[in-house]
Amino acid sequence: MELLDVLRTTGAVRAFRPDPVPDDVLYRVLDNARFAPSGGNRQGWHLIVVRDPAVRAGLRDLYLPGWYEYLAERAAGLVPFAPITDEAAEERALAQAQAIAQTAAQGQGGFAEHLDEVPVMLVLLADLRALAAMDKNLPRYTLVGGASIYPFAWSILLAAREEGLAGVITTMPIPREPAVKALLHVPDEFAVAALIVLGAPLKQPRKLTRNPVESFTAVDRFDGQPFVAPGA
Ligand SMILES: Cc1cc2nc3c(=O)[nH]c(=O)nc-3n(C[C@H](O)[C@H](O)[C@H](O)COP(=O)(O)O)c2cc1C
Repeated sequence: MELLDVLRTTGAVRAFRPDPVPDDVLYRVLDNARFAPSGGNRQGWHLIVVRDPAVRAGLRDLYLPGWYEYLAERAAGLVPFAPITDEAAEERALAQAQAIAQTAAQGQGGFAEHLDEVPVMLVLLADLRALAAMDKNLPRYTLVGGASIYPFAWSILLAAREEGLAGVITTMPIPREPAVKALLHVPDEFAVAALIVLGAPLKQPRKLTRNPVESFTAVDRFDGQPFVAPGA
């Protein structure tokens, strides 16, 4: 595929044909994705290919509460799980998650409720001994460590595209990280970075909704003029 087309059209896919993804295809995806960059080239990722139906169901069960919490925060008009937020409003919103879960349990379920059925389920871990977390001593929420892991996650999706596959990076189980780690026998030194799912897409999105360059750029200072296309 043409690179710009890939960059502009690789959207999140959560509905798949039931066809299994052959191991040689998944291997090729990972073999191409491993060229992703990381701070100091430390490649501090570890990936678990989850096949066992019981483990998959366990991960689904650890995904669901985060999903309902996400929906509860969104329903309350919050930006779900934002590090800077109205904490009291967040607490009030989260108290509604149980009710949302109960309503969902009566329906037929969507991606989250059927998560265990995805063709490929990958759990991406970060080795905390390997990350170049340049902000680890700053008095704010830390962010930079993940930057050594998530390019690899994105490269998995890009490499999957080349194979006619698609998927999504998910993070909903991470609030329950201790339980995820126990389920997968993950050592203490590792953090859970993502649960990535892949498969043959029911349909590939062609048109993604993204903000224009002018909306997130500024020249010389934060509140400077937007960086605009020449001649605009
Ligand atoms: C770090 C990260 C975490 C995400 N977590 C989830 C998730 O837990 N569940 C989910 O369904 N999608 C998740 N997504 C997918 C986003 O919702 C998706 O990329 C975004 O809405 C854009 O969707 P689009 O590509 O279809 O336009 C995540 C994406 C990223 C990059």
